[in-house]
Amino acid sequence: MGMVAEPKVGPPATATARAHPNLALVKYWGRRDPALNLPANGSISLNLSGAVTTTMVVFDRALVADIVVINGEPADDVAQQRVTAHLDRVRTLANLTERATVVSDNTFPTSAGVASSSSAFAALTRAAVAAAGLELSLRELSILARKGSGSAARSIPDGFVEWLPGHDDESSYAFSLAPCDYWDVHVITVAWPLGPKAVPSLAGHDAVSTSPFYEARLALLPRTLDRVREAIAQRDLGALGMVVEREAMSLHAVAMTSQPAARPWMSGVTYFAPETIRMIQAIQEWRERGLEVYFTLDAGPSVHLLCAACDVAQVVQAVRNSVDSESASILVSRAGRGAWLVNQTGGAAGPAGDQPPDATVN
Ligand code: PMV
Repeated sequence: MGMVAEPKVGPPATATARAHPNLALVKYWGRRDPALNLPANGSISLNLSGAVTTTMVVFDRALVADIVVINGEPADDVAQQRVTAHLDRVRTLANLTERATVVSDNTFPTSAGVASSSSAFAALTRAAVAAAGLELSLRELSILARKGSGSAARSIPDGFVEWLPGHDDESSYAFSLAPCDYWDVHVITVAWPLGPKAVPSLAGHDAVSTSPFYEARLALLPRTLDRVREAIAQRDLGALGMVVEREAMSLHAVAMTSQPAARPWMSGVTYFAPETIRMIQAIQEWRERGLEVYFTLDAGPSVHLLCAACDVAQVVQAVRNSVDSESASILVSRAGRGAWLVNQTGGAAGPAGDQPPDATVN
């Protein structure tokens, strides 16, 4: 990313971008370099078409500080600082001093169980870069998004995505393994409104080395990545599902045996809720009875079910029958596109375009 633009003058430069959150099939858990968000291991994901973040960035010389509004509310201090730090990266690249207004909205509720930081920082990166008049390659956008939130690197490319751990800033980026329409495997996300988790994922990442099982997880990952790449290449849901389930359980085995600093009262980090365990048991019973459905779990209580397109209606019905549908939310996705620009004025000329999100929210 060696480009530095001329200082900007003139009217506010604005751009709006959209991104889907992504769901990791092979998870990122643990950082080799916390400042650069270099992951300890490679990971593979798909973008969740059922959820979208839309973010507008306006650089404006009349502002004395960045203004950040998320889902209609002023951002809290932590989010404000993360957004400003990210805008600072863009300002440095573009040789800009203007502060910005950032307005970001999710189509999905925070309680929908998808990691909004991946779509948030992918959309912010895409919009801020365009508003600042920069033209970056997909690889450069992924590198930049990674510094906002690691998993955001994977919401930049289309469809099924691999994030290389790399060995330095330039070599750790995500790329598309296969486009959105390559395979119609579906993800059904089941979430419960259980409030914010007790241990944020960043604290979880930074505690991994305290787990006696972390080295064992890392040793397994090259084989797991191979098997997931191969299952995607073959469009083999059965092979993918079993590997992905065991991979998620390995992350949780590490989390449950990690001791996060500053939380000495905790013995390990348990992201499961009772609802999580009940859903895992139900999925395994359905599978035993012949319904081909698998699960994965992130650092939270939500359960993401994987199934073939032809089984979506049956799986959604089975979920509805087994959870309290008053409180649980169900989100249906397939592989979605990478972050895209909706419009821009005053920034770099570049491809703009809109595509309505193919979202299904129940
Ligand atoms: O990008 P972060 O810091 O929110 O970490 C994401 C961690 C997991 O969602 C648990 C796994 C992953 O690869 O997305």
